Amino acid sequence: MVQDQSSSTPEGHYLDRRTIIRGMGLGVVGLSTLGLVNWLSGMSGTLAGQVDTSEAFRAAIGDLGKELFPAKRSEKYTIEPRTLTPEKIASVYNNFYEFTTKKSGVWRMARNFKVDPWKIEIAGDVEKPFTLDFEDLLKLAPLEERVYRFRCVETWAMQVPWIGYPLSKLIDRCKPLGKAKYIRFVTILDEDRLPGQMDKQWPWPYFEALRLDEARHDLAMVCVGIFGHGLPMQHGAPWRVVVPWKYGYKSPKSIVRIEFTEKRPGTFWNQALPREYGFFSNVDPSKPHPRWSQAMERDIGTGRRRATLLYNGYAEQVAGLYTGKEI
Ligand code: MTE
Repeated sequence: MVQDQSSSTPEGHYLDRRTIIRGMGLGVVGLSTLGLVNWLSGMSGTLAGQVDTSEAFRAAIGDLGKELFPAKRSEKYTIEPRTLTPEKIASVYNNFYEFTTKKSGVWRMARNFKVDPWKIEIAGDVEKPFTLDFEDLLKLAPLEERVYRFRCVETWAMQVPWIGYPLSKLIDRCKPLGKAKYIRFVTILDEDRLPGQMDKQWPWPYFEALRLDEARHDLAMVCVGIFGHGLPMQHGAPWRVVVPWKYGYKSPKSIVRIEFTEKRPGTFWNQALPREYGFFSNVDPSKPHPRWSQAMERDIGTGRRRATLLYNGYAEQVAGLYTGKEI
């Protein structure tokens, strides 16, 4: 990413809190107090001069698949002792460069974005290329809710309830050939509606890739919802991939094409800044980013800092993917 560490503070909330605290004559001392931080976060959107953030939560798919939400929570993966990040924080603090590089601005710019109809092309090393309607993807497997840790390379982190199903179910439906070793995701390209794509320093459209065995791991998810409803645009409507043991940029939003390949594909961030972003990008506290340490992270819900966990806390599940393999 282009930001330095200071931008890993949710600027909107931080400014709100600072302004309020000054106004209250409390100074900054109270900032680390969990209760106060949560209380102030809860107030954002209702204070004078602020917008109503309830719009930030609206599913971009409207009523489509309404009967499928909320989905039953799976207890397979837990995040204890961490608590959920409030929706009103997670949904107004986003990385979605197609709209803007300003985290607190994404939901505002994305709120009227229409995602219907949405088609997904399946191509490359597959038995037969085809096109899937989003509605078919939505109903391809039973939806479940999974609460995952989510860690951005910029050092901010959250815990949110994603809704979807294992990516392996979609891969099976695509029928890749035996020679396919990688899966590549290409996301929406629409310069007329996505102002960030006018910025030609980035290699649009956003694209990402995984080794096929990583993509088939049960933790890797096709994600169609969050917080009990369909995805709002700022989280990548109508669907995205979520890979919780990797830095957040490996979880592409608003996907329109999937390709299976024998050779390792390039990725957006690796192409843009090859010295800073590699292919695997597994969360690892011992491997600093060239411009900052990855040893600690900051929870955007509580504002607290804590130690980063190897594979974002999923080492038990995923370490085996990398033993004896060159990464
Ligand atoms: N997908 C697209 N299409 N465009 C993006 O800019 N940003 C990535 C990832 N997927 C990005 C994307 C990064 S850097 C992060 S940290 C996560 O989305 C953020 O997901 P969230 O905003 O839903 O929390």
